[in-house]
Amino acid sequence: MQQSPASAPSGCDVDTLARLMSERYTCRAYLDQPVPESVIRSIVSVAKQSASWCNVQPWHLVIGTAETTERFRGALVAHAAASPEVDSDLPFPEEYRGVHAQRRQETGHRLYEALGIERHDRERRASQGFENFRLFGAPHVAIVTMAADLGPYAAVDCGGFIASFLLAAHAHGVATTPQGALARHAGFVRSHFGIGDDRKMICAISFGYADPAHAANGFRTTRAPDEEIMRLV
Ligand SMILES: Cc1cc2nc3c(=O)[nH]c(=O)nc-3n(C[C@H](O)[C@H](O)[C@H](O)COP(=O)(O)O)c2cc1C
Repeated sequence: MQQSPASAPSGCDVDTLARLMSERYTCRAYLDQPVPESVIRSIVSVAKQSASWCNVQPWHLVIGTAETTERFRGALVAHAAASPEVDSDLPFPEEYRGVHAQRRQETGHRLYEALGIERHDRERRASQGFENFRLFGAPHVAIVTMAADLGPYAAVDCGGFIASFLLAAHAHGVATTPQGALARHAGFVRSHFGIGDDRKMICAISFGYADPAHAANGFRTTRAPDEEIMRLV
């Protein structure tokens, strides 16, 4: 009888991973309760096992304690209100077309529906969008940057790291919000945290404990069927 390698994942491992992957969601309302430092450190040490091209590990995080994050929130809200224009380190998408536009629109509609915001209520939509700069009330923020000289594949590597961070946090019961919105103000964010031009800001990840009673956290996104995202040949 053929033996499976000792390191092969058991059915139980796959079930656990599938459950964690499907339970995780983007949190958009937090409780005012900090995450213990030991938990933050554990999330990072799990996430850093992510693969990267040539193992260059181009990622770096600046992580705010509750006090630091509170100060940053105030400064960011003031900056974003005064300077709404895009100042990103990586080019922002100019438009979404076809299936990508549809998926984006559906996700937005479902979020606004959960929050009781009418499709045409531009004011409330804008105010919900601005919640990004309040970090949705999260007690912590991580600023994710990549080595500037490594080009787009370093951003791919960081994407893997970010996904692992979100999953490791969820496994600890910690909710997360990956936030490209903050990269709109990359120059300001880097200067606030003393991050030099040798790094490019990819996004932020706000995190903490989810407010389970908030309507924004009652909504879940869907995924395209397998046939739409793969072709087995
Ligand atoms: C790189 C990245 C940037 C994102 N930026 C934002 C953001 O600025 N604001 C926000 O509310 N959600 C943001 N999201 C969350 C996505 O909207 C969310 O992942 C997507 O709708 C799928 O939903 P789920 O995370 O709940 O499964 C971002 C996600 C990623 C991976």
